[in-house]
Amino acid sequence: MTLPISGRTRVIGVWGSPVSHSLSPRMHNAALAVLGVDWVYVPYTVQPDHAEAAVQAVRALDLVGVNVTVPLKERIAPYLDHVDEAAARIGSINTIKNDGGVLTGYSTDGAGFIRDLQDLGWPTERLNVYLLGAGGSARALAYALAERDCHVVIANRTAARAEELAELVNRYFPGSSTVAPWGGTAGAKIDLMVNTTSLGMTPQVDDAPELPTGNFTGVRYVYDIIYNPEETRFLRGAREAGCSTSNGLGMLVRQGAAALGIWLERPIGPEALAAMELAVASRT
Ligand code: ATR
Repeated sequence: MTLPISGRTRVIGVWGSPVSHSLSPRMHNAALAVLGVDWVYVPYTVQPDHAEAAVQAVRALDLVGVNVTVPLKERIAPYLDHVDEAAARIGSINTIKNDGGVLTGYSTDGAGFIRDLQDLGWPTERLNVYLLGAGGSARALAYALAERDCHVVIANRTAARAEELAELVNRYFPGSSTVAPWGGTAGAKIDLMVNTTSLGMTPQVDDAPELPTGNFTGVRYVYDIIYNPEETRFLRGAREAGCSTSNGLGMLVRQGAAALGIWLERPIGPEALAAMELAVASRT
C-alpha cells in the first residue's frame, strides 16, 4: 500500500536496465507507507549512455535520491559531487543522495550484508571467510568483511578477477585477502562461506554447473546472496550438511533500509524493516 500522491510528494527511485524485475519499488513504498513519509519510489529504465543526463535530472527535478543498479553501479561516480570513502574504494555506488543539488554516492551493499548476518545472530568479526565470485557484489562484501578483521579467501572462475579483488582489499586492509583456485576445495578452518556468483539463480537450467566448494565439513555458516530460488542447490547442500544457511533476501532488504536511512537521515526501525521484508517475501 502506498500513500496517495499529494502536491508535496517527493520522488525517490531506482535506475537500471533492466529494472522491471526489481523488488525495490514494492519494498520501499511499503516502508514509506509505514513511516508515513510523503515520498514515492519509482523504477526508471536508464541506459548507461544516459547516466550523466539522469544525474542532472536529479538536480533539475529535485529528487530526494535514487538507487542505482546494473549496469550503472560502476559508471555513475564521475557525475556526482562526492563519493563516500568505502564506495569510492570498491568502485561501486548503489545510492545517491541529493542535498539541495549536491549529490553524494554511497554503497549500502556491504552494510546490508553485515546487518543481515547480525540479525541472523551470526558472527561478523575475525572470521575465516571463503568467498565465491569476484564481481561487483563480491567487492562490496569482501571489503565489508575485511573491515571487520576477517580473512577472506576468494575463488572465482576468472582467476585474474579474484587476484584483482584480493589486491584491492589488501590495499586497504593489508594481509586480509588471499586467492584460491576455482574448482578447489574450501579447505579447513572456514567459518563462513558466501556465494556471490550468479550460479544457481533462476532461470538457470537445472543442469547448470554446481558451485565448486569441495564440501562443507567444518563450515558453520553458509550464505548465498541469491534469493530466487529461495534455496539454491548450494544452500540445500550446506543445510543438509548441517550448516546454518541463509539466502540473500535479508541482505536485499537491509541494503534498501540502509539507503532509506541515508535519504531520511535516520535509522529505519523494526516496523518499517518488517514491512519491507513482507513486501518482498511474497514476490520471490
Ligand atoms: P554482480 O555485480 O552481481 O556481482 P558481476 O560483476 O557480473 O555481477 O559478477 C558475476 C560473478 O558471477 C562473477 O564472479 C562471475 O565470474 P567471472 O568473473 O568468471 O565472470 C560469476 N559467474 C557468473 N556466471 C558464472 C558461471 N557460469 N560459472 C562461474 N562463475 C560465474
